[in-house]
Amino acid sequence: MIIDQVGVVGGGLMGTGIARVCALAGADVVICEADAARAESARARTESSLRRAVAAGKIADADCAGALSRLRFTASLEDLADRELVVEAIVEDERAKADLFAALDKVVSAPTAVLASNTSSISITKIAAATTRPERVVGLHFFNPVPALRLVELIPTLHTAAETADRIERFAAEDLGKLVIRSQDRAGFVVNALLTPYLLSAVRMLEAGFASAEDIDRGMVEGCAHPIGPLSLADFVGLDILLAASTSMYEEFRDPGFAPPPLLLRMVESGFLGEKTGRGFFSYSR
Ligand SMILES: NC(=O)c1ccc[n+]([C@@H]2O[C@H](COP(=O)([O-])OP(=O)(O)OC[C@H]3O[C@@H](n4cnc5c(N)ncnc54)[C@H](O)[C@@H]3O)[C@@H](O)[C@H]2O)c1
Repeated sequence: MIIDQVGVVGGGLMGTGIARVCALAGADVVICEADAARAESARARTESSLRRAVAAGKIADADCAGALSRLRFTASLEDLADRELVVEAIVEDERAKADLFAALDKVVSAPTAVLASNTSSISITKIAAATTRPERVVGLHFFNPVPALRLVELIPTLHTAAETADRIERFAAEDLGKLVIRSQDRAGFVVNALLTPYLLSAVRMLEAGFASAEDIDRGMVEGCAHPIGPLSLADFVGLDILLAASTSMYEEFRDPGFAPPPLLLRMVESGFLGEKTGRGFFSYSR
């Protein structure tokens, strides 16, 4: 393998998915959570997701057993000392990520070790500035659900060494079997910078009374063969997440296409966050 000693910090939705694909690829993976109880919960969720994949016929029993034997869960950052790559997937908060990268910089000691962030919207350059090794820091942005979606965005900064970016690209492509695209370090990278104005346009269309939510979604599903309409997709992503992403892109580009429309603000203020709260542009039984 290009890299077979991986660390993942944050064992939530994305961190457990990233750990799962790395372990299935054959890497030895240590997942670090904020405390012992959360580490235990991350272990339980990762194990049950692997067992569900076996039950669904997506992976073989032996591969599941092999992956489980290569996964370790901890609440101690020191357990990441020998990692060649650490992927951060903690809460989307600039201060928290900067503090974590400063701590990782002290702990992760291999001379070629790389620190990567799975952030969706925070500047990789700012995160890298918390370390003494910005030449070995990149963005590595996976998509949810990680085992199902092939795409990974690789984000080198102006500081990132070419050999670091090339090595992480080969790891994602050759070891993990992902499809890698590169983006400059810009809010939203490629995919969210294109997707967000589209979702916001659908919200504006609904807000203006242009068409019903059902017809807006039907239009794009049946007329453009999209697998899901924009308002259903916004509900799936989470309206709070869409608001946070559009706000950070608006702050970066000052392009009105990224400005969150009032209807989105009112829905988030009302606690209507989409599928996860049972109500967004559509209703969901929970
Ligand atoms: N959810 C998505 O669809 C998605 C997609 C791509 C990227 N991302 C990005 O991935 C990151 C994680 O998102 P998520 O949806 O998995 O969040 P999540 O809330 O499911 O998981 C975050 C985890 O990080 C843990 N954590 C927080 N601080 C920690 C610390 N200091 N040390 C160790 N663990 C810590 C929390 O206990 C939690 O389990 C965010 O930066 C997010 O923007 C999310």
